[in-house]
Amino acid sequence: MNPNNREQPTVCLRQLHHDFGSGEFSKRVLYDINFDLMPGEITVMTGPSGSGKTTLLTLIGALRSVQKGSVRILGQELKGLSHRQRIEVRRNIGFIFQLHNLFDALSGFQNVMMGLELHANKRKEKHQLVTQMLTELGLSHRMHAKPQAMSGGERQRVAIARALVSCPRLVLADEPTAALDQDRGRQVVKLLQRLAQEHRASVIMVTHDQRIIDVADRIVNLVDGHPVSNIVVQESLMICEFLMQCPVFTSLSPGMLTAMADRMTREQYPDGSIIFHQGDAGDKFYIIRQGAVNILVDDGISTRVLATRTEGSLFGEAALLTGNPRNATVQAIGEVTLYSLGHDDFQTTLDANETLKAQVIRMFFQRQ
Ligand SMILES: Nc1ncnc2c1ncn2[C@@H]1O[C@H](COP(=O)(O)OP(=O)(O)OP(=O)(O)O)[C@@H](O)[C@H]1O
Ligand SMILES: [Mg+2]
Repeated sequence: MNPNNREQPTVCLRQLHHDFGSGEFSKRVLYDINFDLMPGEITVMTGPSGSGKTTLLTLIGALRSVQKGSVRILGQELKGLSHRQRIEVRRNIGFIFQLHNLFDALSGFQNVMMGLELHANKRKEKHQLVTQMLTELGLSHRMHAKPQAMSGGERQRVAIARALVSCPRLVLADEPTAALDQDRGRQVVKLLQRLAQEHRASVIMVTHDQRIIDVADRIVNLVDGHPVSNIVVQESLMICEFLMQCPVFTSLSPGMLTAMADRMTREQYPDGSIIFHQGDAGDKFYIIRQGAVNILVDDGISTRVLATRTEGSLFGEAALLTGNPRNATVQAIGEVTLYSLGHDDFQTTLDANETLKAQVIRMFFQRQ
């Protein structure tokens, strides 16, 4: 993801909750979901069965009314829309759902043609687009077969072709590769990737398929309706690289580094602002993502600059590891972007592995 991206998000979710049932039978299945999805981004959503993934997709796809919170799709707020207005919104969305709902009376070709029904292209052009899409998905020889005569995987590919043939700006896909073998699955994912790259489409894909997860720009993990992580993959990789360059963390396993990176949050400080003061309790450590900071020490008579730290350096970990107050003040030079990790998250990551915890502490004291 480009952090300087000034485009409007395709999907913008704020404080979204959802309940099924009413009164004493009401059951909350989504809690406080917040995220933006930018044009060209592929989000992979994972989580155990029953965690709310399909419910969230149907809310984003205007297939269900929004009860609490806000869902904006292509700039339009969905909360409060009428049934007809929601149908209008769906025209911009390509759906690839677990039940593919093909029309049994129509051939594969005609089913895909339905995906262009509401579009103004000329007939010849539509024919060309449908043929091209089916060929790309390896179905050129099955175009005129009816769904009953197709295998599960073939039917799924027809449904995918129908969803993508109009180049929608948003694609919602629920386990799109579930019935496909590895090669076919890859083909589908490549197609989604191309749609994202060439047409700036945004894709949200529910999948457990580890083989295709590498296309993700963002990974959202839902557990019991709670988003337990929301990782921007590029950013997570960058944080891992920064962490690996720090002597304190060089010998951590990739798993530990990733767990730590996933818990870090981004903070922005204007020129001259104080990130923390000497004597404060240490509640976080920081990595500099962009810009520089001065480390200032006050000896009771004067304040002097002890060091300047730039992009990729780490600071603030000493107080976190020793429990002592901050031994210096840190001030932003120009605008600074930091990644921070709070005390509790730092402990949770370390506690996950006692040996590594001992290792980190030893390395830290060796460095002193
Ligand atoms: N129409 C409905 N009425 C009542 N409860 C529902 C309804 N649809 C889903 N639920 C419940 O909401 C929760 C979330 O369901 P959802 O289908 O969103 O899960 P999921 O993450 O997509 O699961 P899976 O991986 O099995 O597809 C589950 O506990 C489910 O039983
Ligand atoms: Mg589901």
